[in-house]
Amino acid sequence: MTTRYFEPKYRTILEAKEGELEALANKSAYDLWKPVYHIHPQYGLLNDPNGLAWFKGRYHVFYQWYPYGAYHGMKHWAHVSSENLAEFERHPVAITPVEDYESHGAYSGASLQVGDELYLFYTGNVKYDKEARDAHQCLAIMNEAGEIRKYEKNPLIEGVPEGYTGHVRDPKVFEQNGTYYMLLGAQRENKTGAIIVYQSPDALNWSFYGELSVNIDLEGYMWECPDYFELEGKDYLIFSPQGIDPSGENYHNVFNTVYAAGTLNIEKLQFEVEEYHELDKGFDFYAPQSFEADGKRLLYGWAGVGEVNFPTDENAWAHCLTLPRELVRKGNRLLQRPADSLSLLQGELLAEGSTQGAGQEALLDNTTAKAFRALISTTSTSDMSVQLFESENEHFEIRYDHDAKKVTVDRSGMTHVVEAAFGTTREVTLENGLSEIEVLVDHSIAEIFVNGGEAVFTCRVFPLNEEKKVAITSNSKTNYGIYSMKRGISR
Ligand code: FRU
Repeated sequence: MTTRYFEPKYRTILEAKEGELEALANKSAYDLWKPVYHIHPQYGLLNDPNGLAWFKGRYHVFYQWYPYGAYHGMKHWAHVSSENLAEFERHPVAITPVEDYESHGAYSGASLQVGDELYLFYTGNVKYDKEARDAHQCLAIMNEAGEIRKYEKNPLIEGVPEGYTGHVRDPKVFEQNGTYYMLLGAQRENKTGAIIVYQSPDALNWSFYGELSVNIDLEGYMWECPDYFELEGKDYLIFSPQGIDPSGENYHNVFNTVYAAGTLNIEKLQFEVEEYHELDKGFDFYAPQSFEADGKRLLYGWAGVGEVNFPTDENAWAHCLTLPRELVRKGNRLLQRPADSLSLLQGELLAEGSTQGAGQEALLDNTTAKAFRALISTTSTSDMSVQLFESENEHFEIRYDHDAKKVTVDRSGMTHVVEAAFGTTREVTLENGLSEIEVLVDHSIAEIFVNGGEAVFTCRVFPLNEEKKVAITSNSKTNYGIYSMKRGISR
């Protein structure tokens, strides 16, 4: 056996020193910027949502997790679940990478119910040195009682097919006409991105089927986290291409996420794209996954991207997931709305009113200002501005330019400016002007839904610990209501 490539960050949770995990938990627990109703790690770093499912009466959400600090290291699958998609319970780690086929992390993947079990497909990441790597596709199985075991014949797929580098990962499995298909994000040997497909009669025995042809002019150097679903007769492919240049209002983050609407012919290995768009227009969004529950198509994303420095790093935790969003089809477009379940967390009315002309300020005190939902509707016959986290020292602005029909989100006015190299504003031009803004704020994240999900901006933001206002300035008739939001997950 060759010696295992080692760096200190490749250590599983089982190798913790005495008291180490408790110390990490204590350090992170009372961080001012910890969300209360967004899924986040107790300590350590969270990235992609994984294995999303409605299974045997509960919602299951797994996520990529590195326990030992706010940086990327040995990835585990952490696990939370919920009866109502609002209040979540934490569970022990679902997948700990202790085997040779996953020696450098249990990477992302999706789930599929097969019989009475939930199959959790994931990628075993193996590194030989800093650069050289291999990938194996693996399976863990959750039974009805919620017990999780690794499949005894792992890996399901050993290594990568010819023509691709070691960057092959993030299985998404679905069944069509009695055959199972696995989509994988991949990098061709010529360092371009692709999606490849495996096929299986039973979800256990897999053979390489080929590369999916996707007529899209976004090559990049790697495509991560493919997701596929059908919604009201239209097929959608979501993926996260790396190495895409900014273009107009699109792709301004270090890595970006795209959805394509069209028709999938999996037997012919074709996804015929009719149109494609960037999924989220904010600063912090990547690697989303969808699942079906209750006849609805729901989606979670990682409210983060790449390697960044945040002021929370020193408290040894990083990132959170987005809220669950319901996807609604409108023509070929996808609208994204906060899932209905979030109203279960909605508390008291903090402020309400309407404004026309002069600026209007809804004052929020130091506690309530940290977790709230603001609903703003406007006739939008003029420019408009909504300030979040406003104080003498800082503000975060959502602007609407009526003539250009453009919404701009601007976090340059904050004291803690993060990811500034990628710009401090994001913009979207709306088709028919602005009618509605819904903002969900949770300590260090604001998710901004425009016009019932026509555009969404996911933004991390690290406000100072002081009294804050929401201020609205508009010359058109504008109504607003601000509600507190309750805790949905433990510290
Ligand atoms: C996306 C990603 C995936 C990979 C995982 C590792 O953020 O790079 O491709 O499986 O994160 O944590």
